Amino acid sequence: MTTMTTTTKTATTVLDANGVTMRFGGLTAVRNVDLTVNAGEIVGLIGPNGAGKTTFFNCLTGLYVPTEGKVSYKGTVLPPKPHLVTQAGIARTFQNIRLFANMTVLENVLVGRHTRTKEGLWSALLRLPGFTRAEQASRERAMELLEFIGLADKADHLARNLPYGDQRKLEIARALASDPGLLLLDEPTAGMNPQETRVTEELIFAIRDQGIAVLVIEHDMRFIFNLCDRVACLVQGEKLVEGSPDIVQSDERVVAAYLGTPFEGAPGAEEAAEVEAAEADAAKDAAQTATTSTEEEDTR
Ligand SMILES: Nc1ncnc2c1ncn2[C@@H]1O[C@H](COP(=O)(O)OP(=O)(O)OP(=O)(O)O)[C@@H](O)[C@H]1O
Ligand SMILES: [Mg+2]
Repeated sequence: MTTMTTTTKTATTVLDANGVTMRFGGLTAVRNVDLTVNAGEIVGLIGPNGAGKTTFFNCLTGLYVPTEGKVSYKGTVLPPKPHLVTQAGIARTFQNIRLFANMTVLENVLVGRHTRTKEGLWSALLRLPGFTRAEQASRERAMELLEFIGLADKADHLARNLPYGDQRKLEIARALASDPGLLLLDEPTAGMNPQETRVTEELIFAIRDQGIAVLVIEHDMRFIFNLCDRVACLVQGEKLVEGSPDIVQSDERVVAAYLGTPFEGAPGAEEAAEVEAAEADAAKDAAQTATTSTEEEDTR
């Protein structure tokens, strides 16, 4: 396989992963991958199942210590410790949702905020004035984030009672609570219907517009090619191709390795029809909900 290791660096590089390799015994899950994300960018990471995408995220966030290579954030090499990576300014969501199911929506966001609050345990236990002020400020910020993400009206609901799409959104709100400069999203639209996917796309654009760079893993090609400024494709742990969505989606190696069948014409004409049908259904549901009072359902 021809491996492409060049990546676009600018004066405003936020993330710089250099020669990252991750081996598990005899298996090399990620091999010598370079990747940058610059300020203001949304970068996509695609590749077939088992290509090493999540492993690469785990190397970026200190969950794994890479066998080789280094990861820098805004020019400083990151220590491979998750809490230090979060403190430095990188936040992430997980492929498998990791919320505190029995905590409320608001509490879940507050948990994400703790890396940005200085007040210690004694201050919290004794409810010193500094703690009360900090707690109030955290709650205000958390509510702001819930407004932004569209979950403010569900702040008091238990996380486990949220529909699946809202749980994914809540994970994003919790990640944003640490005030990151870079957000890593691992399959943010997995399991979503086309309408929820479209809403998530808008949300990610809005996050980028707030000055947060984004690196996103997804299998939904229509979503990725619409959203991203740049896309890298991993195959068997190696970066096969990197470039603009146009370049990557027409690269024969990507098509062969990942997409299986070539993209024909406008990508996703069928999916576009699906989105429209789902939107029509959602509008119908909303009209019905407005006339009948509904009880919240436990989705698990
Ligand atoms: N902790 C681990 N120990 C051993 N092998 C691992 C570990 N984590 C991942 N792997 C292996 O590394 C390879 C890459 O897995 P990874 O989860 O990174 O793929 P992925 O690209 O995220 O796939 P998917 O699209 O299915 O999420 C797989 O072969 C996987 O089994
Ligand atoms: Mg994965």
